Amino acid sequence: MPVPVITIDGPSGTGKGTIAELLSDRLGWRCLDSGALYRVLGLAAERRGVSLDDADAVAEVAADLPVDFVSGRVLLDGEDVSEAIRTEQAGMAASRVAVHPPVRDALLQRQRAMACPPGLVADGRDMGTVVFPLAPLKIFLDASAEVRADRRYKQLKGKGLDANLPDLVEDIRARDARDRGRSVAPLCAADDAVIVDSTVMSIEAVLDRVLKEVRRVF
Ligand code: C5P
Repeated sequence: MPVPVITIDGPSGTGKGTIAELLSDRLGWRCLDSGALYRVLGLAAERRGVSLDDADAVAEVAADLPVDFVSGRVLLDGEDVSEAIRTEQAGMAASRVAVHPPVRDALLQRQRAMACPPGLVADGRDMGTVVFPLAPLKIFLDASAEVRADRRYKQLKGKGLDANLPDLVEDIRARDARDRGRSVAPLCAADDAVIVDSTVMSIEAVLDRVLKEVRRVF
């Protein structure tokens, strides 16, 4: 029997990471935050002085990226980088390294290897289209760029950090354009994905909606 996998894809700021975590907790399944992998890779490449635009050099870093996910923390070479990878700059670096086909290839098996019993909830951009194309349940979570930027703005302000709403809208649009426009594994919904627009939904409402699909499929 194949390991059951639920994929949750969508642009940044839709709350898919939160939904993936809540859902995996609820089901007692493992959770793969594939965006964190690309973020760690961007950080590792920058630290090694590798140009983010050099596909082969970044793929080399990806091939033996010393990353570990331990108790909800992200470790790079043993160092806790959980906060360092969450900055806007790290998000941009992630989306720059993610455009290179050899980089995506280098991370593919690592992501597939996360699927082990009793099941996996995987969130990202291409979980349903490329990494787990046979997943029995695929969710595509969307929301308007303005609402996503506003959520991010409140998150940053809540942490006492500096934030500028128009800049965040622009950043989100730029990242969306790069993620949707790249030639390999562009951000798009799989043909068999259930599309959920969370623009006017709370996290609880989105979780309820997804749980309804889980009960339908499993
Ligand atoms: O999801 P998150 O915002 O952490 O992802 C950071 C960046 O990593 C995305 O903007 C995207 O460019 C890239 N990414 C990707 N494929 C994935 C997950 C993330 O290309 N499966």
